[in-house]
Amino acid sequence: MKAIDLRSDTVTLPSPEMREAIARAELGDDVFGDDPTVNRLQEAAAERLGKEAGLLVTSGTQGNLIAMLAHCRRGDEVIVGDLSHTVLYEVGGAWALGGLGLRTVRNDSRGRLDPAELRARIRPIDDHFPRTGLICLENTHNQCGGAVLGEEDLSAVRDVADRRKLPLHMDGARVFNAAVALGVPVARLAAYADSVTFCLSKGLGCPIGSVLCGTGEFIASARRYRKMLGGGMRQAGIIAAAGLYALDNMVDRLAEDHANARLAGEGLAQLPGVQLAPEPQTNLLYFTVEGRKLPEFVRKLGEAGVLCFDEGGRVRWVTHYGIERADIEDAVERTRAVLAAGA
Ligand SMILES: Cc1ncc(COP(=O)(O)O)c(C=O)c1O
Repeated sequence: MKAIDLRSDTVTLPSPEMREAIARAELGDDVFGDDPTVNRLQEAAAERLGKEAGLLVTSGTQGNLIAMLAHCRRGDEVIVGDLSHTVLYEVGGAWALGGLGLRTVRNDSRGRLDPAELRARIRPIDDHFPRTGLICLENTHNQCGGAVLGEEDLSAVRDVADRRKLPLHMDGARVFNAAVALGVPVARLAAYADSVTFCLSKGLGCPIGSVLCGTGEFIASARRYRKMLGGGMRQAGIIAAAGLYALDNMVDRLAEDHANARLAGEGLAQLPGVQLAPEPQTNLLYFTVEGRKLPEFVRKLGEAGVLCFDEGGRVRWVTHYGIERADIEDAVERTRAVLAAGA
């Protein structure tokens, strides 16, 4: 029985063509700035996002931490959504390594921050208070079901940031999914933020890496923090080659992942007790199953070859490169059988 791995879009393996690009990469020592493939990727990523410069980093977590460090001073607070990946799943790096506080604002069900609530969380200038140093947004929003922040949502937060003269960082781990879902160039979404991290290692199908983009001055500072965090890599062109291949070949196909998530949603919604939570907008799909113990249910799905996670009361399926329409149909049928068997 073939395993259908829906745990995450990080489980993707590089395609034969991507492996070929990796094998052919021209290399140099990137800590010396000598790796031509890394340099090409950083330029291509920055251009694609409409920013001056880019920096290849090891992961989305590292990119977000570097952004917070480069925008802020020790002791500052960073405003993040209460369901953001940064506050929930990035090991508290801002606190532990940056001396930065994370101050949360409620994310609504579509991953948005309410401008009035956001304004209220920004610290007044006062000797008693920490300084607010940065606002962060997440697009697409993982915990909010892969929700897309559109230009109206982004512009509302940009407006608050401008009025309070604060920089805005976008955790755009899946910002290409947002752009494809909206049918706009990614630069349109990136334009609302001063810096953006996007992941190569998720829907874009690369084995490793993320890129942080921003102004030339910001990226020069980010480069120093990357080195401090142990992220100065040497012949990193083998990673960058995959990234260059992905920017050219793996972006438009994200629409297939979105269609597969919708197909999964339609199939699952027909099954007894299954409730989508919420309807999928991109490649992330969350659902609940009434009257079942989810850890047990997810374990039974695993035995039936459908690999997924129980994410605190919801089951998560993620569609990605390597998962075809037929796999989704199969996964829904296997789920039907698991439910019928009374798991
Ligand atoms: C929204 C979001 N931001 C950041 C990250 C962190 O990326 P990485 O796993 O590369 O550290 C993830 C990972 O799933 C994510 O979903």
